[in-house]
Amino acid sequence: MTFDLTLQQLTQQPSELWEQVREERPVFYSDELNMWVVSRYEDVSAVLLEPNLFTSARSFDPAKPLPPKVEKILEGKWAANLMVNIDQPAHTPMRRAVNRALTHKRVENSVDTIRRIANELLDDLYPKGEMDLIARFARIFPALVVADILGLPADEVPSIIHWGEYFEEILAGSAPEEELLVAAQGLVDYQQYFLNAIEARLSEPRGDLLTAIAEEFVGNPELEMTMEEIADVPLGVFTAGHNTTTLAIGNFVFHMIEYPDHFKPLFDEHGKPSFYDAVDEMLRLETPFPVLRRRVERDTVVGGVKIPAGETVMLSLASANRDDAVFEGAGMLDLCRANSNRHLGFGAGIHFCPGKSLARREVSIAAELIYERLPNLAVGEYTRVNRFVNRGFSRLELTWDVA
Ligand code: HEM
Repeated sequence: MTFDLTLQQLTQQPSELWEQVREERPVFYSDELNMWVVSRYEDVSAVLLEPNLFTSARSFDPAKPLPPKVEKILEGKWAANLMVNIDQPAHTPMRRAVNRALTHKRVENSVDTIRRIANELLDDLYPKGEMDLIARFARIFPALVVADILGLPADEVPSIIHWGEYFEEILAGSAPEEELLVAAQGLVDYQQYFLNAIEARLSEPRGDLLTAIAEEFVGNPELEMTMEEIADVPLGVFTAGHNTTTLAIGNFVFHMIEYPDHFKPLFDEHGKPSFYDAVDEMLRLETPFPVLRRRVERDTVVGGVKIPAGETVMLSLASANRDDAVFEGAGMLDLCRANSNRHLGFGAGIHFCPGKSLARREVSIAAELIYERLPNLAVGEYTRVNRFVNRGFSRLELTWDVA
């Protein structure tokens, strides 16, 4: 077998291919990607836990260089201050402030709201007897939830979703220049929207997450951030929490319908496991955000392979999550697995996802209500997302019985 895997092979992620990679060449250089691919759980987590040696700076930059005109529009306006792109020591106080704003308590207090939002969407959808789960539910629901927690009106959510699509377009960097110019201008508007919202909270505080972010960040002497940079905080939270959750809901519901035997423990017994616990095992098996990038600061060794300073490593979270050395029978969904929560689907180390509790609530509530409220669910046509950084569905048609 060749280890010069193509982007397409890696994107489709056939698990047998990764199994062979982990076994025979767990760390290898890909000419096509111009990166070192790291596939074993042990090596992936070791890299994530050494943020000073493996830097995140610019790890979420566009995959391809942007045309100069596009760069000019975005200059200093976007992504420079996204927390995922920032290393220690600057990351530490930012992250502390986000943790103080996006608390477990805030998420738990929102559980009724999350249920209400899911139920309202399903009230409208149920009589139709069919839907594309992604377009009609999974894309809208997490956006409505995060907007509600931030304190943004539901009728502004379609615009925010649209801006988020521009964000993805710039990250991919492959659209024609005219489209990238439109996307760049859209991102400037996106940042301005959050800037206005933060300023509004400063003059009129409310009990929402945006007020908490404004109070934590504005005038914080540890941070000394401009208002534009502060606006990137809720923008980053919204963007990081949207598409990932959309994909996770699609993956969960697809498996729940197509492999009902694997989900029996949820329905047969009382008490355990819960839908909430099941999310971790589902994210382990189908990791919506399957790769992370890091740049090597000093010459080092990963999994016995020398990697020089300045090189980029691509960490396959999806492969690590199916590593039999950590997860026995890793290719199978096992809702009673004792160590599912060791999965790397939320990352690890200083950038570990601060939205984990919220994501688990959103995905489990969505799946539970879809299961309860839509009888005799069946999967129709679907399209898988075949992007390097995403794993899930872009279209997932469902049908059910209407009384
Ligand atoms: C199933 C859904 C989700 C998945 C799979 C996911 C995955 C991840 C991963 C892998 C990282 C680490 C990135 C890195 O190390 O470079 C991350 C970071 C982050 N996530 Fe999530 N996420 C999800 C949902 C959410 C939600 C709901 C929110 C907030 C509303 C959120 C906010 C963030 C933020 C702000 C970061 C950056 C943290 C930092 O740099 O310190 N995520 N997420």
